[in-house]
Amino acid sequence: MELGKAARDIGAVSTLDGEPWRAAHGQPGSRSAGAMSEGEAALLEALRESAGAVTARTLAGVLGVTPRTVQRRLRSLRRRGCCILNVPGHGYRLAAEPLGLSLERVAARTGAHSIGRSYHYYGRIGSTNAEAKSLAVSGAPHGTVVVAEEQTAGRGRLGRAWVSPPGKSLLFSVLLRPTVRMADAHLLTVVAACAVAEAIESMTDLIVAIRWPNDLVIGKKKVAGILTEVAGDQDAVEWAVIGIGINVNVDDEDWSSTLRTTATSLKAAGGKTIDRTELLVRVLLRLETRCQAALAHGFEPALGDLRRRDCLRGRDIAIQTKDGPVRGRAVGVDDDGALLIRLPGGLIRRFLAGDVTLAV
Ligand code: BTN
Repeated sequence: MELGKAARDIGAVSTLDGEPWRAAHGQPGSRSAGAMSEGEAALLEALRESAGAVTARTLAGVLGVTPRTVQRRLRSLRRRGCCILNVPGHGYRLAAEPLGLSLERVAARTGAHSIGRSYHYYGRIGSTNAEAKSLAVSGAPHGTVVVAEEQTAGRGRLGRAWVSPPGKSLLFSVLLRPTVRMADAHLLTVVAACAVAEAIESMTDLIVAIRWPNDLVIGKKKVAGILTEVAGDQDAVEWAVIGIGINVNVDDEDWSSTLRTTATSLKAAGGKTIDRTELLVRVLLRLETRCQAALAHGFEPALGDLRRRDCLRGRDIAIQTKDGPVRGRAVGVDDDGALLIRLPGGLIRRFLAGDVTLAV
């Protein structure tokens, strides 16, 4: 089998993903650690040490910088996930620091399994999918995981951008070398979607639905997306990269006004900050279990779960095809993972891929 002969996106396309990453976040492909600058670290330390709120002027005096520099560094710390309250008349108070990802903790829990036996961790990277694909081509083993705190060129479906503020999401890609027919490769997305939904529900009181086949939604808003890319030949998958983006502790004000109407996070939906390390562990362990089950017994259990979580069923939708939009009512998902749509005349058509929107 020829390696990497054809790499392509699989499956359907969401309508809720975002806007291009802004240049200020660095160049695509950058591997800098995205580490805090000395100035930011000093300000964070000063905030930690102050008993209550402290003014920008006082902080400036302590740090030997201008109040304007303090303001700029406060903004950076907030972008990194620090919750810094502005107490009117008193100044700034550090209310919470971001829960940093601990790859040591993840590796300790997943090291004995095939998924998660090897990690590549980046503070900042272009795209974890791009990196995982390059590792795949260089022969990296099944189960390799690429994780980043920040992506400068995060990718969604159909060439769309995937935008996440640094340090508040889970952005990772898992390299699989599964024994799967190419015709079934899109079902790996379903397996991954179910694993993510289960992991989220195991840590929160939230109910996660799947918008066929790769969007995870809470209420009407998207909380996670999956981008599966594969290479192989017509018969078999050589490797698959499952890219997963979960909006974990993103606050409403972190989104652009456009994304705010369509995207949510676990924290915004559930009102609690989530331990990203624990969530990553749970997703990887469930992905392992579900992949093994699918490879041994087929995709029916995952499809059953997708059907239970299907939020399109019974809804009037439009699906974009190369010949233009097709409108009708979503009536379920068949055994190949295809979306079934009842057309206005009553005929049922099946779609293996497409960009779905709800009819208004
Ligand atoms: C979608 O909903 O369109 C899929 C989004 C997938 C985003 C994740 S984030 C980690 C991985 N790296 C990427 O560049 N994309 C995926």
